[in-house]
Amino acid sequence: MNKKTIKDVEIGGKRVFIRVDFNVPIKGGEILDDTRILGALPTIRYAVEKGAKVILASHLGRPLKDKKKAEEKGQPYDASKYSLQPVYDHLLKTGGFKIAFAEDCIGEAASDKAAELNDGEVLLLENLRLHAGEEKNDPEFAKQLASLADVYVNDAFGTAHRAHASTEGITHYIDHCVAGLLMEKELNFLGKALNAPDRPFVAILGGAKVSDKIPVIESLIKRNVDKLLIGGAMAYTFFKAQGFTIGRSLVEDDMMSKALEIEQMAKDAGVELLLPTDHQVVDSFDPLNSRKTIPIDFTNAGLVGLDIGVETAAIFEKALEGAKTIVWNGPMGMFEEKPFDEGTVAIAKAVAAATDAGATSIVGGGDSVSAVNQAGVQDRISHISTGGGATLEFLAGDELPGVAALDDR
Ligand code: 3PG
Repeated sequence: MNKKTIKDVEIGGKRVFIRVDFNVPIKGGEILDDTRILGALPTIRYAVEKGAKVILASHLGRPLKDKKKAEEKGQPYDASKYSLQPVYDHLLKTGGFKIAFAEDCIGEAASDKAAELNDGEVLLLENLRLHAGEEKNDPEFAKQLASLADVYVNDAFGTAHRAHASTEGITHYIDHCVAGLLMEKELNFLGKALNAPDRPFVAILGGAKVSDKIPVIESLIKRNVDKLLIGGAMAYTFFKAQGFTIGRSLVEDDMMSKALEIEQMAKDAGVELLLPTDHQVVDSFDPLNSRKTIPIDFTNAGLVGLDIGVETAAIFEKALEGAKTIVWNGPMGMFEEKPFDEGTVAIAKAVAAATDAGATSIVGGGDSVSAVNQAGVQDRISHISTGGGATLEFLAGDELPGVAALDDR
């Protein structure tokens, strides 16, 4: 990585603003998945140990968009669900450092609390996106954030694809802008996979929509990934384009010509593109009692495909054998509804087995990460990315604004 990190700058006694991605699922004040918080802890603890005055800032959800939508529909808007207070409570219990909470991220509420910090203490600011200036990358808002600190650290890989005030604008008003340790780890793993992968390099892509994944697919084919395995509902767009009947399975009709183009691109580049050969389907008129596994070409009009079948899982498992680099993003089926998680869980286990045998594996995207956790193989994956959209944009070969804005080495 060609960017400076927190280890390249003097931070002892300095006010250090760390942009983290604490955009975590919260229900009734409880944090449902603290992966992103755990991911940021090494950077926070490093800064604490070095005696920095640490100021943490994050967004949570999309409060202003939600508010606008609620107003348009005349529905009530619950602002409390966008507070980072539950994250503060979580860090207070588990962080192992002294931490305070500021009820706003700018103004006196923030500056007074920041002024009270002693060396090695932490302050968490309230949700950045409660101010419109954050997403608008408003210079005045960015300046107010910048006024709190001497050094800026971006550890929010998950938000690095957004050019917002706290990820890009702020860097114009602080002299030292560097990457955090999580950001460094993400960029090193993903950068190596994209630019200098050990081969064979196998990519697995899934999820509902092929349109979400087109830039990634094209980027991986251009980089001569050795095998590209495609599962999930996005495979049906390929099947329909090839002339198969896909019943009532999800499809993007406007992407069919693109799907054919991708198949040709893969062929021309010598990339082995594997699509499912069988799938689990239900009858749309009796979804609860009609599950069966059938070959793709046996799909009748009323059927809906919801997961890959056992034959496909076995073919994909075989394709992963001997891989040296694996990148996986997106589930193989309707993972959130049992038993349609079976295909995704089988792939999680196969990725873990290939990692045991020497592959470097990278898993990104909420559902694939959940599948890895559900299969109990999270400790056997080389790197679980904290990015969703950011991981996809990075793999598509795009420069992430939150990374570009940091100081070069
Ligand atoms: C994410 O969850 O992908 C990041 O936190 C970015 O959130 P956003 O898509 O609302 O910008």
